[in-house]
Amino acid sequence: MCAQFYEDMEEILLESDAIQARIKELGEQISADYAGKEVILICILKGAVIFFSDLARSLKVQCQMDFMGISSYGDGTKTSGIVRIAKDIDCSITDKHVLIVEDIMDSGLTLNHLTQLLSSRNPASMKIVCLLDKPERRECVIAPDYCGFIIPNKFVVGYGLDYLGRYRHLSYVGVLKPQVYTP
Ligand code: IMP
Ligand code: MG
Repeated sequence: MCAQFYEDMEEILLESDAIQARIKELGEQISADYAGKEVILICILKGAVIFFSDLARSLKVQCQMDFMGISSYGDGTKTSGIVRIAKDIDCSITDKHVLIVEDIMDSGLTLNHLTQLLSSRNPASMKIVCLLDKPERRECVIAPDYCGFIIPNKFVVGYGLDYLGRYRHLSYVGVLKPQVYTP
């Protein structure tokens, strides 16, 4: 049991043990689906970084890692709708099997934009894995190929997800107390 910043949380949504167990299952499923193939794992910075490193270590297929900085969020808890690419991947994905690793799918605008952009580079295949999904919030037609947990429409932090850059390092996912937003 981890007590990092528990006092700032209204609710603990996913304990560390539950996250780790689910990642093991996802790793097994993904490894089976990509058996005999090499995968390019693309980490969407910064939120996916913790999930990415745990998921990668659960995979039993050959893979390479690359990183992309893209965001549709401002500094707060509401999507701006503006998708900005801060850092592109370094490798060519043409004819490669691409697995995009994201922390959470919310409005879906970020991944909608990103998948369109990456498709134009003609990968052999492209799939999305996200740790969390808030399908209630979707503003476009997109769904992850693999999803860790479907969660309610609440703003969550921890395990990579932040509020104003904070709480990413927590090993669990929680909902902040309202007073943390309104000091
Ligand atoms: P979308 O484009 O609205 O799907 O937003 C996806 C991005 O918004 C994610 O990669 C996160 O960085 C951020 N985001 C969405 N929901 C949350 C949340 O509940 N907590 C923290 N960040 C979030
Ligand atoms: Mg993100």
